[in-house]
Amino acid sequence: MADFTIRPATLADAEALCGLHKAAVRKLCVGAYAADEIEAWLREREPAGFRHAMTEGGETMLVAERDGAVAGFASIKEAVLFGLYVDPATGRGAGQVLLHAAEEEVRRRGATVLSLQATLNAVPFYRKHGYMRQDRSSVRRGGRDLAVLDMIKHLS
Ligand SMILES: CC(C)(COP(=O)(O)OP(=O)(O)OC[C@H]1O[C@@H](n2cnc3c(N)ncnc32)[C@H](O)[C@@H]1OP(=O)(O)O)[C@@H](O)C(=O)NCCC(=O)NCCS
Repeated sequence: MADFTIRPATLADAEALCGLHKAAVRKLCVGAYAADEIEAWLREREPAGFRHAMTEGGETMLVAERDGAVAGFASIKEAVLFGLYVDPATGRGAGQVLLHAAEEEVRRRGATVLSLQATLNAVPFYRKHGYMRQDRSSVRRGGRDLAVLDMIKHLS
C-alpha cells in the first residue's frame, strides 16, 4: 500500500488514463456486465474526454504512481466520486490508496459526505471501505443503461 504515490493528474496524463480506464473495465468489470455492455460503455471513451473533464468539466483527477508509471486514478467533482480505476496488471492495491486520497480531498473541501455510483463489481470494495448502499440506479453509456448502485459514506 505504501509504495503508491498520489499526485494530481495533468493534461499530459489523458492518454494514459484513457488506456488504463479501458483496460480496467475490460478486465475487472467482467462478470458484472455483459460483453456488449462493456463495449458500449467504452465506445465513446477518448483521451480528449479526459482533458475536457479536467478543464471545462471541473473534475479533479488524482493519479497513483508506482516506479514512475501510472497505476490508477480517481476522479472527483465537488463531493462525488466520479471514477476510480486501477491498472489490472500493475495497480491492484492502488484502489484503497486512491479512495482514501479522494476522501481526504473532499474532506479538505469541507464536505461531510462522499457519494458515488458503484459499478456492480465494485460494491464489495466500497462496502469494505464504509460505504452504505442506497438505491439501485443506472448510467447511460454508449446508448445503453448500465446498472449501478448509489452509495454514500459519511466522512468523519
Ligand atoms: C474497484 C477497484 C478500483 C478496486 O481497486 P483495487 O486496487 O483492486 O482494490 P484494493 O486492492 O485496494 O482493495 C482493497 C480491499 O478491497 C478488496 N476488494 C477489492 N475489490 C474487491 C471486489 N471486487 N470484491 C471484494 N473485495 C474487493 C480487496 O481484497 C482489498 O481487501 P484487503 O485489504 O483485505 O486485501 C478496481 O478493482 C477497479 O479498477 N475495478 C474496475 C473499475 C471499477 O469498477 N471501478 C469502480 C467504478 S465506481
